[in-house]
Amino acid sequence: MAQKKIVVANWKMAPDTLKEAKALYLAERKTATGLRRVQTIICPPVIYLHSLSTPYALRPTPALGAQSCFHLKSGAHTGALSAEMMARAGARYVLVGHSERRAEGESSVQVAMQVNAVFDAGATPILCVGERERDEHGFFLKYLEDQLIESLHGVSKKRIGMLIIAYEPLWAISSEQLRPATPKESEQMALYLRKLLASKIGLKAAREALILYGGSVDVKNCEAFLREGGVGGLLVGRASLDAKQFGEILKIAERAPQLH
Ligand code: PGA
Repeated sequence: MAQKKIVVANWKMAPDTLKEAKALYLAERKTATGLRRVQTIICPPVIYLHSLSTPYALRPTPALGAQSCFHLKSGAHTGALSAEMMARAGARYVLVGHSERRAEGESSVQVAMQVNAVFDAGATPILCVGERERDEHGFFLKYLEDQLIESLHGVSKKRIGMLIIAYEPLWAISSEQLRPATPKESEQMALYLRKLLASKIGLKAAREALILYGGSVDVKNCEAFLREGGVGGLLVGRASLDAKQFGEILKIAERAPQLH
């Protein structure tokens, strides 16, 4: 069976209240549940996870995800939340290594530990990677290689084959945006990531790896990324806070061709 396209909503630090979060989830759910070829994953702020998932016995459709987790499983760590806690609150996915978390000081070593912690908790990590800037000499390729390899340090071949990778160039994320990435750039980088993955998990598994594009995805550009971007889905930030826009993106994804 063909792999469904994955569309992830990253709500970041919004909305402000549980009431708004419930309304947004229900509105996005309405579109998402009618689609057969798209798997939607909604990542709300962690404080809303449990309330959103409990009416569905912790297995809601669309699936819920967390936006990050602590790299250790237990211990005296004030303010930290473990991957296990996220999974118990209903998260089947966890974003790890998002650039906004890395900017707060999370290292690739910690990100690699988070990847394993999420798998240990029975959830699937969505590993975010992306270069800060582009340069004409191509140093950004080495930067991305180092980031990917370090973020997978100590992660088994089997697990690497099961995780989802989100390519998110920092310069294209809406909060930083210098310019939007092009579908061509996404395609080139997805190809490059597959090449890097091939050395770890083999050519066939790397070709089938689930890679998403993220960074200023909206109703206008999503179709081109899905058709020409070499990716199996999208990670959507700002546009996912508007149920109408996000619903349109989901419907466009439903019509776009499968990658594999
Ligand atoms: P954006 O965010 O769609 O608002 O650029 C994407 C992300 O940061 O995950």
